[in-house]
Amino acid sequence: MNAPQHGKFKDLVDPERGTLNRKLMADEEVYRLEQERVFARCWLFIGHESQIPDPRDFVSTYMGENPILLCRNDEGEIRAFLNMCTHRGNRVNRLDKGNARTFMCSYHGWTFDTNGALVGLPMAECYGDMDRSKWGLVSVAQLDVYKGLIFATFDPEAPSLKEYLGDAAWYLDMILDRREGGTEVVGPHRWSADANWKSAAENFGGDGYHIAASHGSGRKVGIDTTTSYTRGVGKGWHMHAGNGHVINAWAQSEDVKEGPWFAQPVPEIGDYMRENGAEIEERLGHARSHLFSPTGGTIFPNMSIHWLTYTIRVWHPRGPNKMEIWSWSIFDKAAPPKIKEIALDASLYRFSPAGVFEQDDMDNWAQVSSIASSVIAQRQPANYQTNIDLEIREHPEIPGLLGSIWSDSNQLDFHWQLACHLDAENWNEVNAQPSWNDLTRKRSTVNES
Ligand code: FES
Ligand SMILES: [Fe+2]
Repeated sequence: MNAPQHGKFKDLVDPERGTLNRKLMADEEVYRLEQERVFARCWLFIGHESQIPDPRDFVSTYMGENPILLCRNDEGEIRAFLNMCTHRGNRVNRLDKGNARTFMCSYHGWTFDTNGALVGLPMAECYGDMDRSKWGLVSVAQLDVYKGLIFATFDPEAPSLKEYLGDAAWYLDMILDRREGGTEVVGPHRWSADANWKSAAENFGGDGYHIAASHGSGRKVGIDTTTSYTRGVGKGWHMHAGNGHVINAWAQSEDVKEGPWFAQPVPEIGDYMRENGAEIEERLGHARSHLFSPTGGTIFPNMSIHWLTYTIRVWHPRGPNKMEIWSWSIFDKAAPPKIKEIALDASLYRFSPAGVFEQDDMDNWAQVSSIASSVIAQRQPANYQTNIDLEIREHPEIPGLLGSIWSDSNQLDFHWQLACHLDAENWNEVNAQPSWNDLTRKRSTVNES
């Protein structure tokens, strides 16, 4: 591979030594460039199909800082637009959700239909022969759905969603495709935190190390994100699915022969999974039914999932030191109502504005983010050296590369991918740079020869 391994932003991450310049977490220039080169370029999760089940249903959401109107048109097809009137730029839709045939701007009354077309123009005779088709709502460049999850990108050059998710889709299926009928969501819960969005994305993407120190008190009173048995065995993997998507998982211990539900923290959900084990195994196959149980993960850049507590969320950037957190509970549509209720309670009790674990995390992320803007702090790199020299390997039944769950390899993968985007003008340049997986494979080849 001839692509350069150095660049203004790549030089802030050292995946081999395991360090990160704290500038990446605090710098105004980094933040601004992220808006252009990450959030206006990558595929971003914008909602779940179950939020807009019927024609003309709509919800408001965001892609980075851009307000988005996500809706179904009269035919039930999904559409997403910048939530901005093309006249002077008022927010065309002020509601969080609803059902509407058209959206009338409250400023001068321009009106748009569910395909974004400008269909209402007060005093139209004053506009001469203005071509209305040029003044419709600004649409996303591409939109696609993966098993209920709606994604969009503002970059027409972005690879397809299938290609973008790559091997990560295989892991997503373990929450999205366990049962016939897929999933449904409750939410979003929305709140803000005084922290950089990446502090949360990297934490969910790989930080098993923080749990004992950060969440010890919750565990003492009996609230956990897995079983104490699983944690006691302590075996697991960092999984590198490519394109910066990173997942961590508990691996099955030799003396437990049950499926991935061995790690379920809520006994009723474990029982439910066991009862439906045959269907789950038929749908997901051997590895995803017997070898491991995903815990947390991040779909690059800012969507995270916690498989064992049924939560999905987006870390919306709101400044170097601020983010909005939008969080949904997700569960199998086919589950009995009582189980859905238990799953919802279990999810909210752990991860929500009042969640036992969420509160611990947010405080740490806020401290990390605010201190990172200190000039002196930026002279001392952040340490990401946990077990990064351990062998990273391939597994015959599992896609991507596997490291140890007790390592910083996922976090370095995430930050490296971010730096590659910041150094690149466009997708061609992103693809020409060595991914973390490329670098790691190359290193292991060098070691072997
Ligand atoms: S800003 Fe929307 S109609 Fe004028
Ligand atoms: Fe945590």
